This record gives sequence, C-alpha cells and structure tokens, in this order.
Amino acid sequence: MTQRHGREPWRDQVPVTIEEAYNRIKNKYIQLVKKSGVKEPDIRKDQEDALQALARYAVKMDVNRIELFKGRNKGIFIFGNLGTGKSTLLRAFMACISSNGKWLHGEDERSTNTFLPADKMFESIYGSSSSKFRYKHSKECVFIDDVGTEQAMVSHFGNPKYPFIEIVTSIYEKFNESNFLEPQQTLFLTTNLSPKKIEEIYGERIADRLKELGYQIIIGGDSFRNFGKI
Ligand SMILES: Nc1ncnc2c1ncn2[C@@H]1O[C@H](COP(=O)(O)OP(=O)(O)OP(=O)(O)O)[C@@H](O)[C@H]1O
Ligand SMILES: [Mg+2]
Repeated sequence: MTQRHGREPWRDQVPVTIEEAYNRIKNKYIQLVKKSGVKEPDIRKDQEDALQALARYAVKMDVNRIELFKGRNKGIFIFGNLGTGKSTLLRAFMACISSNGKWLHGEDERSTNTFLPADKMFESIYGSSSSKFRYKHSKECVFIDDVGTEQAMVSHFGNPKYPFIEIVTSIYEKFNESNFLEPQQTLFLTTNLSPKKIEEIYGERIADRLKELGYQIIIGGDSFRNFGKI
C-alpha cells in the first residue's frame, strides 16, 4: 500500500516516460515558435537532439526527485549560436515542470516558472523589494536567460558586485551541503558564450563549478531570425 508523506508530493508521483516528455516539450516548443509569428517551425538536427536531451533529462530529473527528495540535482545549460532557439527550447521545458522541478503531468497543471533575464540578475539580488525578480526568494529551480548579456561587474555603493558569480557560488554552496536542511537549487541557463569565454569572463573557478551544476546542450547552425519577404 502506498503511504502519503505529508508535503512531499513526488513520493507517490508517476514518473514521466521519455516519449511523454519528448512529445510535451516538442509540442510546447512548436507552439511557442508559432506564437512568435513563424508559420512553419524548422526542427533541424540540433533542435531535435536538444529536445531528446531535454526529454532524457526530464526522466532522470523526475526519478531523482522521487528517490532523493532533496538531492543533488544538476540542471541544464544550453550553449550555442545566436538565434538558434535556445531560449524557446528552455522555455518549453520550463513550462513542463513545477517550480520545484516536479514534472507536470497533463496540461491542467500550470507551471509558474519564469526566466530571470541575465541583465536583471543584479537587480534581483540587490534591487528594491518591489523588483519583479527576487533571486533571494527564488524557488528550487532557477532559470537564467542569456548569460553573458549582463554587465559582469556592477558597482554597488562603491563595491564591485558580480551577480552571476554570486548566484553560481550560492547554488554551489547549497549543492555541496550534505545536510539537505535547505532545499537545493537547480540551475538552468541559456548562453551564447562558449565554455572558454565563460572562463575568461567569470574566471576558472566558476567555469569549473558550472561543470558540476549542469548538463550541457550545444546548439549549432544558423540563426532562425530573418528579415522576411515583403
Ligand atoms: N525551430 C525553429 N524554427 C523556426 N523558428 C524558430 C525555431 N526555434 C526558434 N525560432 C524562432 O527564432 C527566434 C529566436 O529564437 P530564440 O530566442 O529561442 O533563440 P536564442 O538562441 O535564444 O537566441 P539568442 O541567441 O539571441 O538568445 C524566435 O523568434 C523563435 O521563435
Ligand atoms: Mg535567447
């Protein structure tokens, strides 16, 4: 007999299958691309591979959540060329999970996840309490869009602050605490920066820690953006 465990919803949750995850993420992706005005989304090999990787991850993540409750949960980092669908792909994935990383079965369960745009990271840590994104109070899953578009260093009352470095450091520290008293945070991001460039901008230590915090998906090819015909 299955026993209910108070506020641990994923204990008696049915894990998602790869096919189910793939179909949901792909449908959502196509829906979002169409919403942007593209009549016929073009799923090339890179996008197809990314969708499959996201589906495999969803299954792994779901299993981890069920078995480990608050364990180490690596996120997903989408690297790649400009305009190749990175943000849309992550947005599609984001819509399929809850803010604590639980797979949402069926369309009736709505996700409340949103992106923290990289150029709002500083504001989200040091900004006024009315600021829309409050990283400090953020949920278990943190989604940062377009890492590298922000100013890496911001002066705060004369003190240099490095928002991305702070976020990664804080997540990494929690990730390495084995007492699991605090919920672990899982980091998801998109970026046009190459891993080498990340090392140049944020330093070797951050680049190295990122390897432990997430799985990498790389999307190549040309940008989908075009002028269009008149
Ligand atoms: N498979 C696709 N087929 C056609 N258009 C697409 C596809 N994927 C994304 N697009 C469209 O291309 C544009 C760029 O997509 P998106 O913003 O997701 O890319 P990105 O890689 O995050 O770009 P950037 O590098 O500028 O952050 C959007 O208008 C999006 O709707
Ligand atoms: Mg983007």
